Amino acid sequence: MINFQQLANVPTIKAPFIPELTNYNCCSTEELFAIEQLAYEVKEKASVFLIIGVGGSFLGARAVIDALTPYFRTNNGVEIQYAGHNMSGAYLKQLLTYLNTKEVYVNVISKSGSTMEPALAFRIVKQYMEERYGVEAQRRIIVTTDADKGILKEIADKEGYRQFVVPGDVGGRYSVFTPVGLLPIAVAGIDIGQFVTGARIAGEDFSDSNANNNRAYQYALARFELYKRGYSVELLASFEPRLNKLHEWWKQLFGESEGKEHKGLYPSTVNYSTDLHAIGQFIQEGSRIMFETLIHFEEIEEDISIPYMLGDCDGLNYLADRSMNGINATSKDGVALAHEEGGVPVLKLELPKLDAYHVGYLMMFFMKACVMSAALLGVNPFDQPGVEAYKKKMLQLLKEDVVIANANEGKI
Ligand code: PA5
Repeated sequence: MINFQQLANVPTIKAPFIPELTNYNCCSTEELFAIEQLAYEVKEKASVFLIIGVGGSFLGARAVIDALTPYFRTNNGVEIQYAGHNMSGAYLKQLLTYLNTKEVYVNVISKSGSTMEPALAFRIVKQYMEERYGVEAQRRIIVTTDADKGILKEIADKEGYRQFVVPGDVGGRYSVFTPVGLLPIAVAGIDIGQFVTGARIAGEDFSDSNANNNRAYQYALARFELYKRGYSVELLASFEPRLNKLHEWWKQLFGESEGKEHKGLYPSTVNYSTDLHAIGQFIQEGSRIMFETLIHFEEIEEDISIPYMLGDCDGLNYLADRSMNGINATSKDGVALAHEEGGVPVLKLELPKLDAYHVGYLMMFFMKACVMSAALLGVNPFDQPGVEAYKKKMLQLLKEDVVIANANEGKI
């Protein structure tokens, strides 16, 4: 189902142990049904579904939605918009103006319920929804959070919002197969049944502790071997622009899971062929610190062919009748060869088709590989202690601002 082509000279090692594999479970059938029912209502009534969340609370959904919905909106389906992933006043102001012309449903997603970015965005959006929809706002706001605790849980209970649960043992970046990812994905019109089936099959395919029989572990071991040889940067690359947000999800998954105790590969991403004309020079001839992992889907549903041109004034008739996706795939092979010759090791991940099943399969492949990778480094893949550092400093500064403002106004 997934073809992993690694370096010829990387030894395959038997995995020393089976890492903890339970922290990214898929939804139950009952939950899937409840998600599909609510998604149906949202699709009937809304023209915009606003997702409020940050990090693992929105990157997975956005990755899948971008990968599997058209580049250009061609129908009247629900448009997915995002907030709570930045603290730009301009962004929020313009978003509210934009929403004025739309029918809006909101899904606020936060496991802890207290992350500053989504909490601030939700405060603003909650007020907007109440002013605009009155009592009906209660039906239009859906909360995804912890089952028992947190400020968001308290607000949801008090207001009577409909709720979905982030399982306590599933960390944000491993939560795309829970309601965190599945409700937005379902509202976007993607078959979540196929998506979680792909994940479940991958879960089974990559459960063998012997790396010789487990491609996710082979990928983890190859990365680890390259890391030991001094390659400190992994570039995730693909040739399909709609995978850009999948790259972002992967970057968070590996970055937050591995980057601790001064260890870990730096996860970076490139989108070809765009980036061949930007960072391509550096990759080909710059510092030899990086290797590349190339994702390729063999079949992509839509395609177009190169027309024959009378007179051949641009000299491209030798490509007439060739499919654009085919040319793109050849370009991928050429780039891999050039990079390998230039001293950039290339790992290849190939899947048969860009669809819900295979995207689910690939995401579970990466989660399994990530947990193994962290185990090889000897770090905990499920915590993110370093993220707290900026939060503490930011809160300290915000509180200092309030004290100064109060002092200036003579309140203290
Ligand atoms: O992967 C993670 O655990 C993090 O990226 C969180 O998802 C992110 O910090 C948001 O946290 P929360 O869902 O508690 O708002």
